[in-house]
Amino acid sequence: MSFHPQTLAIRGGKEQTEYNEHHQALFLTSSFMFNNAQDGADLFNKNKDGFTYSRTANPTVSAFQNRVAQLEHAEAAIATATGMAAIQAALMTFLNAGDHVIISRCLFGTTMGFITGHLMRFGIEVSFVSPTKPEEWQKAIRPNTKMFFLETPSNPLNEVADLERLANIAHDNNALLVVDNCFCSSALQQPLQHGADLSVQSATKAIDGHGRVLGGVVCGKNELINAIAMYVNACGLSLSPFNAWVLLSGVETLFARTKQASESALKIAQWLKQQAQIQAVHYAGLPEHPQAHLVAKQQAAGGFVLAFEVKGGTNAAWKVIDNVQLFSKTANFGDVRSTITHPWTTTHCRIPPEDKQQSGIQEGLLRISVGLEHVDDLISDLKQALEKI
Ligand SMILES: Cc1ncc(COP(=O)(O)O)c(C=O)c1O
Repeated sequence: MSFHPQTLAIRGGKEQTEYNEHHQALFLTSSFMFNNAQDGADLFNKNKDGFTYSRTANPTVSAFQNRVAQLEHAEAAIATATGMAAIQAALMTFLNAGDHVIISRCLFGTTMGFITGHLMRFGIEVSFVSPTKPEEWQKAIRPNTKMFFLETPSNPLNEVADLERLANIAHDNNALLVVDNCFCSSALQQPLQHGADLSVQSATKAIDGHGRVLGGVVCGKNELINAIAMYVNACGLSLSPFNAWVLLSGVETLFARTKQASESALKIAQWLKQQAQIQAVHYAGLPEHPQAHLVAKQQAAGGFVLAFEVKGGTNAAWKVIDNVQLFSKTANFGDVRSTITHPWTTTHCRIPPEDKQQSGIQEGLLRISVGLEHVDDLISDLKQALEKI
């Protein structure tokens, strides 16, 4: 029988023990015993399936990996301690000194910091281009280009990249297309279905959905995931079994949460557009979004994160933050509780001001992640805060 993704999110990938437990068991153990010396040798030499040590593999983590792989239409997945570990592993496994990588200039600040502060230290050449202009990616190709990396929709401006076009350009040049799927999660977008080679995600966000634990996951073909798994094991980037167990519960409600949050986010975006204090609203779900045709093709809904710019720069933006009563003032997103943050001074604070401006992040920009509170309460909260500017 084949099942819908909503069913797989709840039942996919379970590792069942002999005790017939209904919920996925938590294997909170750092190592596994061998029956005898020969058994240990067989397990370590992979002559036999099984578990040896939780940095390498663990049944609870495997259940999480298998479930997310099913949702992303991937042959396999490898889980990591954080979303940043997933990004690091996806990039470092395949890049060598002297290689060239083309990267979207619209990225989460820490990802940008990893690329400029670390990746480039190892002799990897980087070109930054616009996520929405495939011709820039084509033009940036060099004989040593090995990878394209981008977020779609981008954090925080919701720019949407044409995955199929970029995949074609990458593959024509023997490069891998790696996509950060954080803003949609596996419920709203499956990048591999549009030609990506690897889909990377911070499970800390919508997969957990309740702001409890950190985690990351990379999905793709067996061959690529096996190579990343070796890197994750060697560098100790593995997801803890406890976090995997928490994330397995989170993923069960992922479809219902992202559907409702996307509906509320659209209502909020439409309301914000009418407000006098607002300069611009950036939301992939709006019909007038510049890449609406791609959103319709690639995403099941607009998503749960939107950004809007208030007139009056940082002062005005901070007044909104300081006056909201319901929104949590925190940088996480994808939570059942709505959150608000000021990218200029928080998530993107270490990016130089001119680079922020070049990627469209202005001082008056606020990012909100829409949770499951009643949408009218969220709008009332924003209304009273905007009135304080
Ligand atoms: C788009 C994006 N990618 C990756 C990450 C990193 O995830 P983590 O915080 O789980 O390391 C974040 C975190 O906010 C993010 O927004």
